[in-house]
Amino acid sequence: MDFKSYIKIVENYPKEGIRFKDITTLMQDGKVYKAAIDEMTAYAQDKNVDVVVGPEARGFVVGCPIAYALEAGFVPVRKAGKLPREVISVDYGLEYGKDSLTIHKDAIQKGQRVLIADDLLATGGTIEATVKMVEELGGEVVGIAFMIELGYLDGRTKLDKYDIFSLMTYN
Ligand code: PRP
Repeated sequence: MDFKSYIKIVENYPKEGIRFKDITTLMQDGKVYKAAIDEMTAYAQDKNVDVVVGPEARGFVVGCPIAYALEAGFVPVRKAGKLPREVISVDYGLEYGKDSLTIHKDAIQKGQRVLIADDLLATGGTIEATVKMVEELGGEVVGIAFMIELGYLDGRTKLDKYDIFSLMTYN
């Protein structure tokens, strides 16, 4: 399927010079959304995933249906102040900003096999921070799945120790 034809590119959003890749136009077509999630799930199918971890907020719309299809758990990574119980946190840099991410301290058990899922790989800062927290809790990152990879930002080199799948790449 030509998934790219369902992505809308928005010039200069949210800042001058950024070409925002809007996945909502893909998601609003049920058949295309399902096909995209099915391909991402197929990538992870043989990895014996215990838990899918997805960063707020678009990581939820990708990670949750994959977790459901794999019959794996889902663990949210959220921005500071959003999770109600004890967390660990990591500061990270974004393509356009800086923030800190958190995860519940008891969300992952030692040795659990973790798939990280998100809509987009840009600089890789979000996923680098996510990997750090998963590993600090004792999880094993067995794969990382993206809907979109921005090849020109080279986020992949930050994650070169890991197995990465991208449904679409923009160069
Ligand atoms: C976006 C996107 C990724 C991240 C990619 O999320 O959904 O999570 O940025 O950028 P990076 O590879 O440079 O870290 P954002 O933080 O904008 O949050 P949102 O999903 O809540 O919009």
